[in-house]
Amino acid sequence: MATLLLFFVFLNLDLLLRTGHCRETRDQILSITPKTQEHVDILRNVSTQYETALWQPVSPQYIKEETQVHLFVPANSSETVKNLLQRHAVTHEVLLANANELIEMQTRNDSTDPRSGSTFYERYHSLEDIYYWINRTAHDNPNTVKVILVGSSYEKRPLYVLKLSFNNRTNKKAMWIDCGIHAREWVSPAFCLWFVHYSLSFYNINQDITHILDNMDVYVLPVLNPDGYKYSWTSNRMWRKNRSISKTTSCIGVDLNRNFDANWCTEGASHNPCTEIYCGMFPESEPESQAVANFLRSHKDTVQLYLSIHSYSQMLLFPYSCTLEEAENHRDLLEMAQEAAQKIRRYYRNTYRYGAGAKTIYLAPGGSDDWAYNLGIKYSFTFELQDRGRYGFLLPPSHISGACNEALIAVKTIALKVIEKT
Ligand code: ARG
Ligand code: ZN
Repeated sequence: MATLLLFFVFLNLDLLLRTGHCRETRDQILSITPKTQEHVDILRNVSTQYETALWQPVSPQYIKEETQVHLFVPANSSETVKNLLQRHAVTHEVLLANANELIEMQTRNDSTDPRSGSTFYERYHSLEDIYYWINRTAHDNPNTVKVILVGSSYEKRPLYVLKLSFNNRTNKKAMWIDCGIHAREWVSPAFCLWFVHYSLSFYNINQDITHILDNMDVYVLPVLNPDGYKYSWTSNRMWRKNRSISKTTSCIGVDLNRNFDANWCTEGASHNPCTEIYCGMFPESEPESQAVANFLRSHKDTVQLYLSIHSYSQMLLFPYSCTLEEAENHRDLLEMAQEAAQKIRRYYRNTYRYGAGAKTIYLAPGGSDDWAYNLGIKYSFTFELQDRGRYGFLLPPSHISGACNEALIAVKTIALKVIEKT
């Protein structure tokens, strides 16, 4: 009887909460295209003064007229933000009405869910699962996979690189792929896992991957920013930077892709630790960027191709991002990116834009791609995987296979070209 009573009380409470209109209970993604400078300024205010997360562009300074802004608005600031926009006649479109549900879906461990027919590689994985997978993969493939500890994160988590090596040819070249430099871009680590799995499964079956692995070793860093990745799973899904503590403010984190020594902290990065594009105290001030830089410095004679995987926006970018100047082999890079984008279009009917970073998106100094390029790795690319904003960083797990397969075809196209050219 008592339980029955309780049940009715809860039922009513629930009804009350749900019918109590006005209060938004769900996190949302808004798409807003400012029409005037006033709109631009309002949006800059909203994204800095309120508890929101700017998805696109990366920093408020890049908001401009007639360019779509994607803004993550948590439930508790939804009313205020929408009222403010309305008051200034800034129209918005709701891209995603219920981000909570998506977030919940992505962190659910559905490996035991009988309804889900998805494989391990078609799901997102916690940092712990990825560490476990790294060890398992090396253990199960002792002749082809080795784990290399290249450093540790700010919070002292290990940075593991998997080395795929299918033979001991002399003068063998290599390529590098890193994933997860930005914490919230979850499809990126998923791609690194996908790539390793594909290589191990299709060597001697698929001609292209066989040719690539016969001629190159592959170094894969599945999670460049483990502290941030962990934090995006446990505390804030929209976290981008690492988790290092600043000495001057209470703001946390350095944008690791602004922390490399390539026109470090010039226009397109910020000295302010409270921004998403904080460049850190000095180039390679962060243990994560330093570990990558040290490894590549000591392997620069073999590594010919550098790839860094991000999301979202579907782009294939190459140097420079830190200056508007053209790279010395610009034509080569352009041709390779173009061919890769064409393949994606032909096979997957998806559009990828391509070009030099600074001219294709914005000036963004201190990036790993430019730094690797200046080190002498003349084929250097940053991939921005799916999608173009529909789900943004919250790409549903059901899209992982599509996103990874099309990126894979781009990687193969570019790697084959590099082998051909060198
Ligand atoms: N969205 C990436 C970022 O803002 C783009 C990286 C392009 N390359 C670069 N060096 N900025 O970091
Ligand atoms: Zn990124």
